[in-house]
Order: sequence, then structure tokens, then C-alpha cells
Amino acid sequence: MGFPIQRLRRLRRTETLRNMVRETSLSVNDLVQPLFVVHGSGIKKEIEALPDNYHFSVDQLTEEVRELRDLGVPAVLLFGLPKNRNEEAAEAYAEDGIIQQAVRAIKKDVPDILIITDVCMCEYTHHGHCGILTDGYLDNDQTLELIARTTLSHAEAGSDIMAPAAMVDGQIGAMRKILDDNGFTEKILMGYSAKYASKLYDPFFKHGTKSVVAFGDKRTHQMDFGNSDEAMREIALDIEEGADIVMVKPGMFYLDIVYRAKQEFEMPLAVYNVSGEYTMIKSAAAAGRIDEESIMNEVLLSFKRAGADLIFTYFARKYAEIERTPG
Ligand code: PBG
Ligand code: ZN
Repeated sequence: MGFPIQRLRRLRRTETLRNMVRETSLSVNDLVQPLFVVHGSGIKKEIEALPDNYHFSVDQLTEEVRELRDLGVPAVLLFGLPKNRNEEAAEAYAEDGIIQQAVRAIKKDVPDILIITDVCMCEYTHHGHCGILTDGYLDNDQTLELIARTTLSHAEAGSDIMAPAAMVDGQIGAMRKILDDNGFTEKILMGYSAKYASKLYDPFFKHGTKSVVAFGDKRTHQMDFGNSDEAMREIALDIEEGADIVMVKPGMFYLDIVYRAKQEFEMPLAVYNVSGEYTMIKSAAAAGRIDEESIMNEVLLSFKRAGADLIFTYFARKYAEIERTPG
């Protein structure tokens, strides 16, 4: 049965019809806004390469978080820029570390927004690698100890969801164990489960956290972007170890992985629309080549269509301000 009995254009004729039959929808409830926190006070400085995103001191951060909450954004993801960076990534798990201060301040001032904290050592080591190096190689099990300590300190500060980003083996298991051992049985863990070694993170390191690796790269722990089966194995392990949410990262070039992960696992699935994806869109829009708002709606909806339940994006605030369906 085909044309002329079937005319698929019938349902595309008006905006009302299109809105009524659209299969996928996006809402501000699906979005998480990443935020960058620095020491000091009175600081709100736009991040080069991430327009409309800022370095905030804690006092300014709580204002921003209050506005995000008022706009309906359900959660924020925090990244910290420490005072000092050293071999042991000491500020990552310091009681008065930048993240710990930020979490306490948000919990006090805006208790109803969800706080997600990124657990990784790369912002806190002087060489920018994600943990302890032994002869230049990321030492898996020594790094796990720092990850566990950092997780506990985030939980004590009041973080709701902790997300290990180092791609070392066993991180979710190590985090679940230290949380359970300390009575934090209700804390949520979100694995950056299938995280690829991608150049799309460069703007984040260069301008966001200012923690570019001093030598080498992260290909001995982050995933090779030729692989898809391996991503499913990573996700399966995170689930086994106690993850509540799993993630695919980056987003735009990895929709096949998002789709497959949603098909294979009955789990809440996140995707990270990373800095390089954001900066490509912002740069092209600034040059007048594409329409920013339309492209934002199109890319965010594509993540949902592929199967993501939640989206980490530097567009979260802007989307919340504009909220509308693509048309
Ligand atoms: C790890 C972390 C990274 C990003 C988020 N968390 C970088 C990495 O692990 O290589 C990248 C996010 C982005 O590019 O937007 N701390
Ligand atoms: Zn890292």
C-alpha cells in the first residue's frame, strides 16, 4: 500500500499537526548545566571558547545556580580549578577544596537543585593526568584510592550524584564501596561509562579547567573511538559495580553508541554534549553560517531521539531561557 493512498505529507501540513505527532520531545527537565568554580570572590568571567559559560567564585556561583533553578534546570555538574596542583591531587579530596566549598554553599542557598560532581584527578595534578603516574603510565589501583577518597569528601560535603571521569577500571565499584562503608547508601553514582579519547575535550582543558596534559595523552585509559562493542562492556561493568546512571561521551559523533546503549541496557542513560561540540556550533553561529537557536534545538533533540534520557550541555541555561520545540 503506497502512494497515492499513503501521503505522508498530510501530517506535516501545519505546525499543530507536526507538534501533535512528533515522536520525541525535549524538556528542560532533561538537561544538566556544567559549571566551573574558582577560588576568590566576586568573580564571573566568561570562558574563552565557551561563550555564555563562566568561571565563578563560590559567591557568584550560588547566584547562578539560583537562577538556573528558577529557570527549571534540575541539576548542575561542577568542575573546580584548585589553588595548587600537585602529584597527589591533594585538593581533589581536601575538606576545604574548591568543589567541597561550592557544594556546601549550594546546598545551603539552593537546596532543591541536584548537585553532580565530576570525580577525576586531572584538574588537580600538576601534569594534568587523571591520577597517579608510575613511569608515566596512569596507575590504575593507586588512582582508585584517590577516587574513593574524593568521592567520600564530595558525599560529606553534600553532593547528590558523583560521576567518575577517569576511565580507570573498577572506579564505580571503589566508589560504591567507600560510600556504603560510610553509610552513604543513597548516594547516586553516574558512570562516564563509555568515554572516548576525543579531541573534542580540548576547549574544556585549555580554557575551562586550564589543565592541559603536560605530556602524553589519555589513550591508555579513555576508549578508542573505533570501538562500539567495548563501550557495551564498559557500560555492563559499571552497572554490575553499582552505577545508577550510565553515560556516553562525547555526544554528537557518538549517536550510534547512545542508540545501542539504550537498546541493550534498561538503564537511565546520559550523553555529554562536550566542549568541542559546543564551540563548533557557537563559532559557526558567530560567523553567521548557521542559526544558533535552531541548531541547538536540533542537536539536543537528536540526543533524545537516539535514546538519551539526560543531556549534559553548555546550552542548558540558554535552552531553559528559550524553551520551545523545533519548528
Ligand atoms: C574529566 C572530564 C573531562 C570532561 C569532563 N570531565 C575531560 C576528560 O576527561 O578528558 C570533558 C568535558 C568537555 O569537553 O566538555 N575531568
Ligand atoms: Zn581526568
